[in-house]
Amino acid sequence: MTEAAAVASSRAMGHGDGPRADALAVKAMRRELEAVHLSGRIVIGEGERDEAPMLYIGEDVGDPHGQRVDVAVDPLEGTSLVASGRSNAIAVMAISEPGGLLHAPDTYLEKLIVGPPAAGRVNIDYPVEANLQIIADSLSRQVSDLTVIVLDRERHRRLIADVREAGARIKLIADGDLVAAVSVAVAGTADHVVMGTGGAPEGVLAAAALRCLGGEIQARFRPRNQAEVERLEAMGVHNHASQVLCTEDLASGSAIAFSMTGVTDGELLRGVRFFGGGARTHSLVMDLAAATIRFVDTIRVLDRERVGPIRLIA
Ligand code: FBP
Repeated sequence: MTEAAAVASSRAMGHGDGPRADALAVKAMRRELEAVHLSGRIVIGEGERDEAPMLYIGEDVGDPHGQRVDVAVDPLEGTSLVASGRSNAIAVMAISEPGGLLHAPDTYLEKLIVGPPAAGRVNIDYPVEANLQIIADSLSRQVSDLTVIVLDRERHRRLIADVREAGARIKLIADGDLVAAVSVAVAGTADHVVMGTGGAPEGVLAAAALRCLGGEIQARFRPRNQAEVERLEAMGVHNHASQVLCTEDLASGSAIAFSMTGVTDGELLRGVRFFGGGARTHSLVMDLAAATIRFVDTIRVLDRERVGPIRLIA
């Protein structure tokens, strides 16, 4: 499903039309969802029923007679990255048994995300400098050897100043804190922590991935306006300013599966590459219960007649 979304949206790479790239991804993912024997309920999707024609929160998808699952999707994470042909756009989906993924409104979350070595040791309430020292210690290195990923937003001015003051390196990203969350949990990427405020849906999807990878997210809702506060209250979150959510609060399931496919090239995954009559995709597919983590390299033949004999080149 994420492969299909990635292939479809990558056709719009560099066309300067984010909504079209997103619509292509949504349509392709929806089509694939209808073809599987799962009875899915969208818990993280393209928005509320009145603002999203497909894959809206609460929508039932798939085969009503199939196995019941909760579904969290971001058919195109990094819409504007695709529109401008920049790196790190992905198509993402997570599924779990019913109730295993938080039904979060489309608001913001303040996030602190680390990989397995620092999991269980950091604290979102500690000062930035203290958390960086803990992460550095967990990796047997100095704070100056760490890379912190922060969304390049005005709201992060103070955070960026604090990280600089502590002496760590910063990677300011234009978009895409979900792929960053996965990246810090994979050794060898040279990314070590995500800090700052980004989308809540991306936070739930990140938690699903981190459950599979052994990393950690700590988060706090940061509603942007009164309407979002009311949405949170309606969901039973009354003390959003003080309530810290951990990885298991966001993704509590015991049967979580997560898949993300590169749309444009990134540090972790290659983007979609087309050849005459087909496309090649690169995905990360994880299954918590089976404890498997796979990098999947797929050749998709889209037009058998045009492809002819397949000649594989590494
Ligand atoms: P899209 O899926 O809409 O492309 O989101 C991109 C993104 O950068 C997320 O990775 C991030 O969590 C969020 O937007 C940040 O929101 P904002 O751009 O409003 O700061």
